[in-house]
Amino acid sequence: MTKIRWGLLSTANINRRVIPAIRQSTRGVLAAVASRSQESADSYAQHWDIPQTFASYEAMLTSDAVDVVYISLPNHLHAEWAVRALRAGKHVLCEKPFALTLADVDHMIATAQETGLVLAEAFMYRHHPQMKLAGEFVKNGRLGDITLIQSVFNFQFKTRDNIRLVPEFGGGCLWDVGIYPVSFAQYIMEGVPEHVFGSQWVGNSGVDEFFAGQLVYSHGRMAHISASFVTPYHTRSVIIGTRGRLRMSRPFTAVEDTEMVFFPADGEPEYVDVPEAPLYLGEIEDMHSAILDGTPPYLTLAETRDHVRTVLALYESASSGKVVSFT
Ligand SMILES: NC(=O)c1ccc[n+]([C@@H]2O[C@H](COP(=O)([O-])OP(=O)(O)OC[C@H]3O[C@@H](n4cnc5c(N)ncnc54)[C@H](OP(=O)(O)O)[C@@H]3O)[C@@H](O)[C@H]2O)c1
Repeated sequence: MTKIRWGLLSTANINRRVIPAIRQSTRGVLAAVASRSQESADSYAQHWDIPQTFASYEAMLTSDAVDVVYISLPNHLHAEWAVRALRAGKHVLCEKPFALTLADVDHMIATAQETGLVLAEAFMYRHHPQMKLAGEFVKNGRLGDITLIQSVFNFQFKTRDNIRLVPEFGGGCLWDVGIYPVSFAQYIMEGVPEHVFGSQWVGNSGVDEFFAGQLVYSHGRMAHISASFVTPYHTRSVIIGTRGRLRMSRPFTAVEDTEMVFFPADGEPEYVDVPEAPLYLGEIEDMHSAILDGTPPYLTLAETRDHVRTVLALYESASSGKVVSFT
């Protein structure tokens, strides 16, 4: 069987989650890592037992050692390297946020279309069975008409030396973790809001370290989202409808202790059995299906574009103090 050869574009911290997923997958192998120096690539490869190293990102792209690259660079470099990788004939799985402007997103999508290669956003939580179950609750009408989504993603840094605190790198808690509740609301409401209002607190770093947003959809449906770098780790989402509500304790980082509870309008709470699944495996297997079977990626590029669009609108609103309309 043909195995897809993966190359890691950088030695980023997040790779430690993606490497086991590639190794668990049935149709992929981890072939190479590229770093900005040979020394760093070599020591990383030794630690993770990766067969081939490259002393620059470009060197990996021009080699024929990999079929697909996983881009885990700081946010401001996603667009540039995704386009370069596609132009070099590589499929691309690119970390969230996909890019920092809509022009960049459009350039990435156009390049994928031109080259006929697979390009997808690495939003791992969307592939987890928990999200599919939540989507079914909504589609089956068990929650009734959805009126409100409340969704939060907070965490604190151990040290302040982090790419997420650098304005020029596309830092900020909305770009980093707020994009999860934004994308979750988009998934459940099936599209972008009609208008948004955002508020932010900008720390000494120069980036938003606390952000809260209100997303207003047709028929008065709403989502309240918030993200923070200043409060302890906490994630939670609640979907509230006219027939009950669904509460998820770990919507974005589903792990063994994740809890999903349906509270019907009448009756006892129902604890939903969430199948266990490795959190990062779904996005890897999905790339394999797209590359080898021609199956369209589960998370579409139109959805990805809308994630960026909504985040940009929220930032615009927070800066101007005004509601930003999508129409
Ligand atoms: N989906 C998820 O679960 C998840 C979780 C965490 C992060 N992420 C995303 O993954 C990306 C990386 O996050 P991370 O926390 O893993 O990053 P990180 O540990 O800071 O690593 C970023 C890597 O980018 C490379 N790099 C290139 N230019 C750089 C520069 N000017 N400054 C710093 N690093 C530079 C470095 O690799 P070399 O030195 O090897 O070149 C570095 O190791 C971000 O886009 C983030 O949003 C996603």
